[in-house]
Amino acid sequence: MSTLPLRHVAIIMDGNRRWADQRKLPRLSGHKEGVKSLKRLVQHAGAIGLEYLTVYAFSSENWQRSKEEVRYLFELFSNVLRDEFTELADNKVRLRFLGDMSTIPARLRKSFERSMEDSKNNTGLNLQVAINYGSRLEITQAAKRLALDVVAGKLNANEITEDLFANYLFTEDIPDPEMMIRTGGEMRLSNYLLWQAAYSELYITPILWPDFAPHNFDEAVEEYAHRNRRFGAD
Ligand code: IPE
Ligand code: IPE
Ligand code: MG
Repeated sequence: MSTLPLRHVAIIMDGNRRWADQRKLPRLSGHKEGVKSLKRLVQHAGAIGLEYLTVYAFSSENWQRSKEEVRYLFELFSNVLRDEFTELADNKVRLRFLGDMSTIPARLRKSFERSMEDSKNNTGLNLQVAINYGSRLEITQAAKRLALDVVAGKLNANEITEDLFANYLFTEDIPDPEMMIRTGGEMRLSNYLLWQAAYSELYITPILWPDFAPHNFDEAVEEYAHRNRRFGAD
């Protein structure tokens, strides 16, 4: 049993390009360095017995970046999955992708689906990677599917509860994150887990994502342990 004070941490991995700018490197190389940072953290999270880690890798708004950057990122996702899946599976990681898969290039979508299927019985860290994810898109799609189920007579509108609605989100049965970390210092949520993070503790650090190390993660968890979560009560 883990002695951690929480089960689920969500992360906005921000600041990759600024990291590269600081070092006068090509901007996009910051994303590659960001992958190394994620790899370190996934190993660490597994080792300390965290149950769920959900990371923001590409938002539904990130399509607005240059074609070159979008292509670079999708190639990177594809290569990382190809190169790292075996090791993740050996470490018992259960991998899931959250987001609208319908506009992801077919080949990549298939490898996402295969990796989810192949790791679904793994009992270690649950790693969710949000790609083409946006909360408004997620909630709108959930509402649409729910409406269709009502029309089809599968349930009555007056049976809709918060729990039932949450089951239509990409996160389905995954518990809400107790803490949301954002690196790179921006004070916003950028359309990430708006429903799920309704009562999450926010932890924003100026550290740029490629520099975010396991000990920084431990510091965040340590701070979390001292937060007073009231959930609206006195
Ligand atoms: C986060 O880093 C990664 C993605 C959004 C894909 P950025 O690319 O946003 O880097 P900054 O925030 O511009 O430094
Ligand atoms: C949020 O970062 C998305 C990811 C980390 C994948 P952005 O860099 O896209 O967020 P904004 O544009 O600063 O809000
Ligand atoms: Mg950014």
